[in-house]
Amino acid sequence: MDWPQSTCYLNGEWLPLAEAKISVLDRGFIFGDGIYEVVPVYYRRPFRLDHHLARFERSTREIGLANPFDRAGWSAMVDGLIDRCGDQNQFIYWQVTRGVAKRDFAFPAGTPPTVFAMSSPFTRPSREQREQGLRAVTRADERWLRCDIKSVSLLGAVLARQFATEHHADEVVQFRDGSLTEGSSSNMWVVRNGTVIAPPRDRLILEGIRYGFVAELCDRTGTPFEVCRLRQEEVKGCDELMLTSATREILPIVTLDGKPVGSGRPGPVYGKLRAAYDAAIEALRD
Ligand code: PDD
Repeated sequence: MDWPQSTCYLNGEWLPLAEAKISVLDRGFIFGDGIYEVVPVYYRRPFRLDHHLARFERSTREIGLANPFDRAGWSAMVDGLIDRCGDQNQFIYWQVTRGVAKRDFAFPAGTPPTVFAMSSPFTRPSREQREQGLRAVTRADERWLRCDIKSVSLLGAVLARQFATEHHADEVVQFRDGSLTEGSSSNMWVVRNGTVIAPPRDRLILEGIRYGFVAELCDRTGTPFEVCRLRQEEVKGCDELMLTSATREILPIVTLDGKPVGSGRPGPVYGKLRAAYDAAIEALRD
C-alpha cells in the first residue's frame, strides 16, 4: 500500500490521506491541545481495543474534552479503517483535538473537536530486534508532570527520541529525580533475580495497554511481578531490561549507555514473556 493514497477519516469523511487537510488554527496544530491512541491490529483484529478505548475516555476526561463517539462509534470507525487498509497487521492511529478557533489559550466555547484517524501497515519487530535486542541510553526525564495523559503535545518525547538517535541508540530510559519512569514512547521493565519490576502507574508515566498485558503474561508464565520505584543504579545493575509498546510489542534492551545489561544478550525472562506474547497474538488467528 502506498501510504499517501491510503484512506483516512477526517471529521465525518473518508478520503485519501494526501487530501486530508485541517485549518492552521486547529488547536492541535497551534497548542498541541489534543489526545491520541495507537492500536495494533493482528490478522485484521484490533488487539485490546476496549483497553485503548477506556484509556482514551480517561484522556478525554482529564483534559475536559467531549468524546465525539461512544464505544460502538469508535469500534465502527476502527472496523472501517481495517477494511480500507486491508493488510493483516496494521496499526491504527487516531487523534482528537479541541477544534478550530481563534488563538486563545482558554478553551473555546461551542467548538466541535477535530477527529482524525488512519491505519498503516504494521511490520512487527524483526527477528534481529528480537534476537539481538536494542540499545538504550539513560536521560533525565524532562517532560511535564501529566505523562499519564496520552497527549499529542509530544515535544518532550521527540527530543528524548532524538537524543537516543544521536547516541546511536534505539530508545532512552528516562529517570525523574533519579527514579525510573519510562522510554520516549514505551514502558520499561526491569528483571532482578527472576522478578519483573515495573515503575508505579502514577502521573509520571503513561500506563501502556501493554502494562496490564505484561502483568497478565507474568501471571500466565508463573513469573513474579512487582511494582516499585527503581533508582538509576538499580536499573544499571539489573539482570534484564525490556520495553513494551503497541508498535514494538516486547523487546529486550541489551546495552545501556554502551554497557551490557546483564549478560548483554536477551535473557530468559524476556524469552518466556515473548513466547507468551506471540501465543496471545496467534490466538487471534481464525
Ligand atoms: N506510544 N509510554 C509512552 C510515553 C508512550 O508513548 C507509549 C506508546 C507507551 C506504551 O503504551 P502502549 O503499550 O499502549 O503502546 C508508554 C505509542 C506507541 C506512540 O506514541 O506511537
